[in-house]
Amino acid sequence: MRSVQFDVRALAAAAHDGAALVVAMLATTLLLEVNTLTPAQLGDLTTAFVVAVPIQIAISFLFGVYQGIWRYTSLPDIQRIVFSVLTGTVVVSLALHTLGLDERFTYREYLLYPLFLVALMSLSRMGFRSFKEWAIYGRSGEEGTPVVILGAGDAAVGLVKELSRSHDWRIVGLLDDDEKKRGRLLHGVRVLGPLEDLPRYASRLKLRHAIIAMPSVPYKVRRRVIEICKRAKVAIMTVPTLNDVVAGKSGARIRKVAVDDLMKREAVTLDDAGLHDLLTGQVVMVTGAGGSIGAELCRQIAAYRPALLVLFEMNEYAMYKADEQLREAFPEIPVESIVGDIKNARRVDQVMHQYSPALVFHAAAYKHVPLMEEANAWEAVQNNVLGTYVVARAAIDARVKKFVFVSTDKAVNPTNVMGATKRLAEMVCQGLQAGSQTRFEMVRFGNVLGSAGSVIPKFQEQIDKGGPVTITHPEMVRYFMSIPEAAQLVLQAGCMGLGGEIFVMDMGEPVKIVDLARDMIRLSELSENEIRIVYTGLRPGEKLFEELLADDEHTRPTPHPKLRIAKAREVDADWIDGLLAWLDQDRIPSDSEVRRDLKRWVPEYHTQVRPRLTAVATPRAARGAS
Ligand SMILES: NC(=O)c1ccc[n+]([C@@H]2O[C@H](COP(=O)([O-])OP(=O)(O)OC[C@H]3O[C@@H](n4cnc5c(N)ncnc54)[C@H](O)[C@@H]3O)[C@@H](O)[C@H]2O)c1
Repeated sequence: MRSVQFDVRALAAAAHDGAALVVAMLATTLLLEVNTLTPAQLGDLTTAFVVAVPIQIAISFLFGVYQGIWRYTSLPDIQRIVFSVLTGTVVVSLALHTLGLDERFTYREYLLYPLFLVALMSLSRMGFRSFKEWAIYGRSGEEGTPVVILGAGDAAVGLVKELSRSHDWRIVGLLDDDEKKRGRLLHGVRVLGPLEDLPRYASRLKLRHAIIAMPSVPYKVRRRVIEICKRAKVAIMTVPTLNDVVAGKSGARIRKVAVDDLMKREAVTLDDAGLHDLLTGQVVMVTGAGGSIGAELCRQIAAYRPALLVLFEMNEYAMYKADEQLREAFPEIPVESIVGDIKNARRVDQVMHQYSPALVFHAAAYKHVPLMEEANAWEAVQNNVLGTYVVARAAIDARVKKFVFVSTDKAVNPTNVMGATKRLAEMVCQGLQAGSQTRFEMVRFGNVLGSAGSVIPKFQEQIDKGGPVTITHPEMVRYFMSIPEAAQLVLQAGCMGLGGEIFVMDMGEPVKIVDLARDMIRLSELSENEIRIVYTGLRPGEKLFEELLADDEHTRPTPHPKLRIAKAREVDADWIDGLLAWLDQDRIPSDSEVRRDLKRWVPEYHTQVRPRLTAVATPRAARGAS
């Protein structure tokens, strides 16, 4: 049915263009022959039409002129018309000449009639579009909820165009701090003034809604905009970023502002060709593939079409989810999902030898600071240090080309067991690098937004329950990056590394956790009287400020603006035997013993946990006890 409709529409358009050609040629002749047209001329012209009309229509068809829909005529359609008419004119002139029908045609006719034809074909299409838009939207001009757009850049242009067709919204103006844009019109909508004027316009124009169209401004600006919206008492909505659109997350074009929007940072530029060389057609293995970082790494690697993606994960359910999502999003990419523990050397060796990956991204780890500090310290050492050693050793034996270790900012001057184990795991990779063909790269970064167990989902849950929101300390600050951004930079570091470097990511501006909590309460359209903020005190091993990763003193730049290389302590391969003996001891050391020994391996580690005082049995007490 659709194709019949299309054919009818295309036929009508072709008939119109044929008629336009006739009119164009007649008008040209009349103009050049000073308004006289003898019957003989008319006869010759009619013969020329018989040749020219089918030729021009066939060429327009080849140029795709009849694929467009008149109601949506745009610049590319007009360009197609111009090219088809130019080509058509050349072919028509050759045909008329060959058939001896061009007696009355000079170069003047061939210059003038295409101009008329382009004008007729374009104007009728644009006229039709304007008429349709007027018929559909024009009469509803005053309909829809009044809304102001914040920002008058590229995103606003797209939004104005889109909303001008909407029955639901009526744009009353734009606000932008750029003075040069003040008073200008964007598709007929005026830039009224600076963002600070929102409360004034909101009360004057009875506005209840504002849409933020600034997809890539920094956190501070976004907070300010949200603050202004709050003062203006308008509901805030936003447009998706280009990254969201590319990632297929745009959903409805306009949506309510989420806290992630506050944190949006500039899109990462990637060395696409380099990543292509690194990943395409290769067997790639990801450990911890069911985790927040591992699963995102898998998605991004899959986009580069590896020959095979081997997922390695201990948690069966996490594995199942990651496997399912990956197969759904990339049905053409072969995926092998292996359930296993990275500490199990036999299992890891078997997998490495069976699939011979060219690259390994090692993201399996325990990462919760307070949880790993007490009662689980030895487990953290085993999982993060021994586990990394097992995977790295197996990778060397299986001649893996690159091994990328996902580390953390908590490994810098660690104050907790988790951070110290990650630093020790980095040192294992540094130590193994010496004399090995496998190239080890380590990548450190800070908190990512929305990962499992992170602060944003926790605050959201607390707000949904009616509060309170718990924060450890009013001065607590953290860096935030999105999971996709972190994963992109892990890949980029993997691509750039030559072996043994510790890459650190530029995490941008630190964010005060209490401000984040306040923003989330505000975005839930609640107040701090309704949702209280409660301070609970620092937990074991927790730092108030994470170490600044990417400063000049401790790092050097790389060609990538968001990656630097840390000036880390060199590590010899020799101590690994001693480390292995410690890891392989036949008793489970206490938490305080683990902390004491970690200090031996990682001199920059300073625990914040005071050793517990325990009573020492005196001979008398011991006798009494027996
Ligand atoms: N999430 C963050 O904010 C963040 C920031 C910086 C660095 N990192 C680092 O990235 C790494 C991954 O973090 P994440 O947020 O994805 O954590 P996550 O807990 O979401 O994922 C880790 C995954 O590893 C798996 N795993 C753990 N031990 C394993 C073992 N022995 N064998 C096999 N699989 C095992 C877990 O089941 C889990 O699925 C960690 O090393 C973490 O320190 C995370």
